[in-house]
Amino acid sequence: MDGGHEPTEYDKDWDWYGALIDERKDSSDWMVIREARESHWRELVRLPAGGQVLDAGCGNGDYTRLALRDGAKVWAFDLSEEMVAATGRRLSAAGLQAEELQVASVLQIPYPDASFDVVLCFAVIDHVPDELRPAAVGELVRVLRPGGTLYINTPNKYAYTWRAGHWLMRRLGRFPEGKIRWLSPGELQALCTDAGCRVGRSLGLELFPPFSGIYTSDLQRLTILPEPLIRLLDRWYLRLERRLRRYDLLKPLCFHYFLEATRPETGDPVSSTRLGSAQTGDV
Ligand SMILES: C[S@@+](CC[C@H](N)C(=O)[O-])C[C@H]1O[C@@H](n2cnc3c(N)ncnc32)[C@H](O)[C@@H]1O
Repeated sequence: MDGGHEPTEYDKDWDWYGALIDERKDSSDWMVIREARESHWRELVRLPAGGQVLDAGCGNGDYTRLALRDGAKVWAFDLSEEMVAATGRRLSAAGLQAEELQVASVLQIPYPDASFDVVLCFAVIDHVPDELRPAAVGELVRVLRPGGTLYINTPNKYAYTWRAGHWLMRRLGRFPEGKIRWLSPGELQALCTDAGCRVGRSLGLELFPPFSGIYTSDLQRLTILPEPLIRLLDRWYLRLERRLRRYDLLKPLCFHYFLEATRPETGDPVSSTRLGSAQTGDV
């Protein structure tokens, strides 16, 4: 499906990534990132008991799994067939089951208006072309019930420590140009308010890369340290990262900037065909 735009090389990349993910994401190498993400989930996301949740752009299902584990009914989709397959495999392995898992686009969400209590859209709208991004956020809000909550994030333009790490990896030929699109916290907020939402809490994640090494685009950790030292550094990192990312001054410098946005009880969301003003570019 084209989901309203022709898939670019950037979009197609995800099939390759989906095939890689099974072996990498459950490895001990990835433990530190996995644990940081689980702890931010517990801090940020509030699911109503037995609520209906949509994981839009579920990737390999990290957040689908967390929502199911927390007792929600979950529907999930992704533009990449490989990613959807990876989510299916990983849910089965964990003994969990989504209500529905399918290939679809955030630009054309295959559910009626006001279907969900909570919509999750993590690290996805940065993959949508600039001019279509407001329409994608409009779609996410359309399928949210009045009073429902959208949790959304993108890589953060002001994550200087990570951007320096990626610059270094590009120089070493380990990270392709244009692999990540960055939005500022203000741009993400404007996308949500332009779509008719009230912006609530925010949370940063991963203020700086783990001390144990930096990760390449194929999820390998580049490090020269021995395993016992890596484990020790990872434990320190997790404790420090959790504390520092909460400070208001540091939050806007984290790699990921998360927002909670609520669809008001009254009033229509902005139509997904009306394009807003917040646009960004590749960096
Ligand atoms: C960085 S991954 C994030 C996956 C997952 N949400 C997570 O945080 O682990 C980005 C995902 O967005 C998906 N994606 C890109 N464009 C999309 C679109 N227009 N509609 C739905 N999914 C899309 C990709 O296939 C990929 O799985």
